[in-house]
Amino acid sequence: MAVGIDKLGFYTPSLALDLVELAKARGDEPDKYTIGIGQSVQTVVPNYEDVVTMGVNAAKEILTEDDLAKIEMLIFATESGIDNSKSAAVFAQELLGLSPFIRTIEMKQACYAGTYGLMQAKDFVTLHPDKKVLVIAGDIARYGLKTPGEVTQGAGAIAMVVSADPAIATINDDSVYMSRDVADFWRPVDSTTALVDGHLSTDVYKEMFLTLWQRYQEQTGHELADFAGFAFHLPYTKMGKKALDQIMDQADNQQQAFLREQLTASQVYNRQVGNLYTGSVYLALLSLLQQGQLTDGQRLGVFSYGSGAEAELFSLELVPGFDKAVAGQDVLAQLAQRQNVSVAEYEAIFQSQLFDSSKNQESDAPDGTGLCQFVGWQDGQRR
Ligand code: HMG
Repeated sequence: MAVGIDKLGFYTPSLALDLVELAKARGDEPDKYTIGIGQSVQTVVPNYEDVVTMGVNAAKEILTEDDLAKIEMLIFATESGIDNSKSAAVFAQELLGLSPFIRTIEMKQACYAGTYGLMQAKDFVTLHPDKKVLVIAGDIARYGLKTPGEVTQGAGAIAMVVSADPAIATINDDSVYMSRDVADFWRPVDSTTALVDGHLSTDVYKEMFLTLWQRYQEQTGHELADFAGFAFHLPYTKMGKKALDQIMDQADNQQQAFLREQLTASQVYNRQVGNLYTGSVYLALLSLLQQGQLTDGQRLGVFSYGSGAEAELFSLELVPGFDKAVAGQDVLAQLAQRQNVSVAEYEAIFQSQLFDSSKNQESDAPDGTGLCQFVGWQDGQRR
């Protein structure tokens, strides 16, 4: 039975920072950011958004009455959780109007957790084909002002409905995965910003992709020529190129040119949003599905990486009519509607978001947006 991604929604908050302006403010060459790292704009999160609102807004883009009736489990993958005990999923369940008779859970393993959620969803639907699972993968990537990671910040969420006979893509039963204890990126429990050994993290990502690619080939017998493109976890868009370049010698010149074009198509949205940790690989997938040259029945590779470190490589098969199933999302329009903020405004917003549970806070949520918004904290509780 075919089980896979039936719907794919995306949401990113309403503020944006031009990275050429950030480069100038930091005394860096703009080309380092836009070419060397491959990022042009990053989403900035206003104080009336958090991971719950982003996830709910992404899911609202796609859910129908039929989904609401059949969703039996909500998996919320994030490393930007808003409580050390209560999961983001229970907030989202209520806000989305899902049934109380469902399972809700939050999952964490850096940027990898969305893929674990997707695979759990696939297994559940395989056992219960009349049910659906909602997987939300969203984060706010924060490294801190004037850090090397600052240019790779970003925010947003992906929502996916997993079902039998999916409208977008079947998840093939061909995953290879690995885990290894590495200190490449981490966030202590009392810190609102991530700590990272950036160059080590890039090396581990590349190494895990190459290892899993070799294992995938051994276990499945598939070759590079069998793939119409890849969606990589994109902490910054150059990372996808670094990974793919390692296996390009397995393709002839024509296929190399094609795979590079498909990679560029997969990077369009991430280049304008930045890292959304758990959601990044699925934003790259949405970008590839909408901007790439694809036809029904083709095989796509998905490489998911989460620091710490864990990675998984698997393939999807495009379902006839997949292009219509993703056409409803006008991501470029959503990105264009963001309001630009100056570097000084971004810095003020960033510094105001140091959470202190001993202080009650009210957000500046504007009226009439029609979006789910966060109103503030009271007695350490999200209101
Ligand atoms: P850096 O040290 O500031 O930059 O950190 P650099 O000196 O390495 O330069 C970056 C690139 O720009 C280089 O290209 C330079 O040559 C080039 P490369 O050699 O890499 O191909 N460059 C220029 N190009 C054109 N014109 C110029 C110019 N100047 C230099 N004038 C780094 C960069 C990405 C390490 C930093 O931003 C960082 O630490 N980012 C955060 C960590 C990260 O994103 N790691 C990625 C892998 S880990 C991962 O994906 C997991 C993660 O998402 C977290 C999770 O799992 O939860 C991060």
